[in-house]
Amino acid sequence: MKKIDNCKIIIFGASGDLTKRKLIPALFDLYCQGELPKEFSILGVSRTEYSDEEFRKHVDEGVKKYSERKENDPKLLEKFIKNIYYLAIDTAKADDYAKVKDKMSEISKESQKDNYIYYLSTPPKLYSFIAESLQKQGMTEQNDQTGWRRMIIEKPFGYDLDSAKKLNQELFNFLKESQIYRIDHYLGKETVQNIMVFRFANSIFEPLWNQKYIERIEITSSESIGVEDRGGYYDGSGALRDMIQNHMLQILGMITMEPPSVFEANAIRNETLKVFQSLRQMNKEDVDKMVIRGQYTESKVKGEKLKGYREEKDVAAESKTETFVALKLFIDNWRWGGTPIYIRSGKRLPTRVTEVVITFKNTPHNLFKNSAVNQLIMRIQPHEGLLLKFGMKNPGAGFDVKAESMDFHYDEIKEYVPTAYERLLLDCMMGDQTLYTRHDAVEACWTFVQPIIDAWKENPEIKVYGYPAGTWGPMEADNLIEGEDLTWHYPCKNLTNDDSYCEL
Ligand SMILES: NC(=O)c1ccc[n+]([C@@H]2O[C@H](COP(=O)([O-])OP(=O)(O)OC[C@H]3O[C@@H](n4cnc5c(N)ncnc54)[C@H](OP(=O)(O)O)[C@@H]3O)[C@@H](O)[C@H]2O)c1
Repeated sequence: MKKIDNCKIIIFGASGDLTKRKLIPALFDLYCQGELPKEFSILGVSRTEYSDEEFRKHVDEGVKKYSERKENDPKLLEKFIKNIYYLAIDTAKADDYAKVKDKMSEISKESQKDNYIYYLSTPPKLYSFIAESLQKQGMTEQNDQTGWRRMIIEKPFGYDLDSAKKLNQELFNFLKESQIYRIDHYLGKETVQNIMVFRFANSIFEPLWNQKYIERIEITSSESIGVEDRGGYYDGSGALRDMIQNHMLQILGMITMEPPSVFEANAIRNETLKVFQSLRQMNKEDVDKMVIRGQYTESKVKGEKLKGYREEKDVAAESKTETFVALKLFIDNWRWGGTPIYIRSGKRLPTRVTEVVITFKNTPHNLFKNSAVNQLIMRIQPHEGLLLKFGMKNPGAGFDVKAESMDFHYDEIKEYVPTAYERLLLDCMMGDQTLYTRHDAVEACWTFVQPIIDAWKENPEIKVYGYPAGTWGPMEADNLIEGEDLTWHYPCKNLTNDDSYCEL
């Protein structure tokens, strides 16, 4: 892609955790690879009082701790930091945005034409207000004289279907869809993008990629940590909103979409949208049968006492917020009609892992007394890679079938793998929206999730199952899987909290 020679990044919510831990380190990593435009600067904006120098010191610590390139020449970091500025404003006061305009004019003194990215890393209630306030200052208008104006919007995009629609509508008063970049950092992960390449650059699997040959699809995303210090936010959100509505459904879109006619943002986004629109809607009875919600309870793992969710800081003592969800769903289209798809995500599970497991159907006729399961496992994180399981003859007399596997690990590639935020920030600079979520896709995902939210709200008798912290969630989640004696694919060899058991 053609590199641009000028870009100014204005981060709202610059004193926050995301800016320090992810955004500035990702920009530094891009800088180290020579990927940033010749002329670039970063302006941090939030309410906390910092001078330029104090803010530079604050982000310098973040880069040193979190950058993938922290071992680089310290001089490079010094040079990079000089391009960073800060402005304290009352972000809830429209008039204060005139100061942003003034500061940008100061920073850009020599540029005739500037390209701006506004990165909204604030609480979501401010998203449309910031867009409106920038528009009032004439800062969202783009033409040949001004350069382009783009806005990256952090998750969560909406709290439910109505609020997501409202936010889209409000943003459209100030910006065009082509200026809005709704970020889902899962799509920035190399291994998630590889799903498309794996499917559409090879002819081996695609003929089998349908309900005729695939028995079931599972997507698991687990975290071993609890809510940490985000209890206040999480208690109003829960696993369904925080993980399923966005990240998990986006991965599902990539796994199940039709091949696009060209590899271009709208063609790809049209195909994932069709998947989201084909998700079978659930009614109250379906929710009761097909969705299991759980909440972690106190337990002891390797001698360490782990708190229950309700004992966490800023969590209501009677909270019914789910820290675990497992669901079974169907895509009602020609390719996937009848294939069960299982998704689960949770906190305080035995390990941190995200993976997709495709289980192929058995052979039509079994010639041998035993058989092997054909599975393709796409590991998104950690130990990123692919693993294919198949049956081989057990050497020696007879025809015993033995399960074997072939695998590929990303860390065998010696090349640098960019982080999700690096990739997505660079894409935004290039004007590539492929890995950002379009307004209709966000709404389609909320449309699928909304009946589950409603059923839980309106029917308190739908259980919230407890599960001891450090286990794979409520046992009831296993009962979702169709077929005798079948369970989820467990990524770890045993059920203790130990990442070393999580090899692919
Ligand atoms: N952290 C993550 O890993 C992560 C991951 C995905 C998405 N996100 C999303 O990214 C956004 C930022 O996350 P974060 O973790 O950086 O949050 P955070 O640490 O709480 O930071 C929020 C930022 O917003 C600023 N802010 C401006 N106006 C505010 C107001 N009226 N009330 C409260 N804060 C205000 C705060 O700074 P001042 O108080 O100085 O104004 C602060 O810089 C959130 O929407 C979050 O959902 C975060």
